[in-house]
Amino acid sequence: MIQVKVKVFRFNPENGEKKPRFDEFTVEADPKEKVLDLLHRIKWEQDGTLAFRRSCAHGICGSCAMKINGANMLACEANLANFRDPTRITVEPLQSLPILKDLVVDLRDFFKKYEIVKPYLINRTQPPSQERLQSPEDRALIDEATWCILCAACTTSCPSNWKNPQFLGPAALLKSYRYCFDTRDEGISERIHVLDNNDGVWRCHTIFNCVEACPKEINITWHISQLKKKLVSREH
Ligand code: SF4
Ligand code: FES
Repeated sequence: MIQVKVKVFRFNPENGEKKPRFDEFTVEADPKEKVLDLLHRIKWEQDGTLAFRRSCAHGICGSCAMKINGANMLACEANLANFRDPTRITVEPLQSLPILKDLVVDLRDFFKKYEIVKPYLINRTQPPSQERLQSPEDRALIDEATWCILCAACTTSCPSNWKNPQFLGPAALLKSYRYCFDTRDEGISERIHVLDNNDGVWRCHTIFNCVEACPKEINITWHISQLKKKLVSREH
């Protein structure tokens, strides 16, 4: 077992607090444990007012994304043994979103951008008597893009998004790829006005922070580059 010093970002604007602060907790842990285990122990044994999101604890729901030792990741997958110094951990909320309390950020803007790209199949032709079929090759085109769990780690690590909050951001663009490259979808003309402009794909300057941050190891930048090619080659 090791003693871990955990510095945790604290802020509760509802209490009239004007500035955030860091609280430090000492937690005994097994090096095989995850940062989420430490946060649970702090909340259950030391300070019940600490606020953070989590649900599945298995890298599936996307709710526990936060900044840990300076990098966005899922707390439930952040293995202590993988840090250079597992005895010192600093936990902060995702950058560039309003803070509701401590590590809980307001995700409404993130999900609004997700809705804007119409993240669903659009097909106006008469459906066949059974399902709309896809070949394995068709499916492979969108396979990686379907791994996204909407954790927001990519969009909140993107400097283009920090500079211009109107930018749709990597997560929404990846989702638009997922549908624009689905061979059953006919909805690109309904998405093009939000994709083909300065707050859409062209705001991505291939910085790759999103790829570094993505816990599902999706090459988001490559998918955005394919969207750019599709928009350029498309007859308007
Ligand atoms: S692309 Fe990756 S980092 Fe971005 S929201 Fe999806 S899972 Fe999270
Ligand atoms: S708690 Fe669900 S992804 Fe971490």
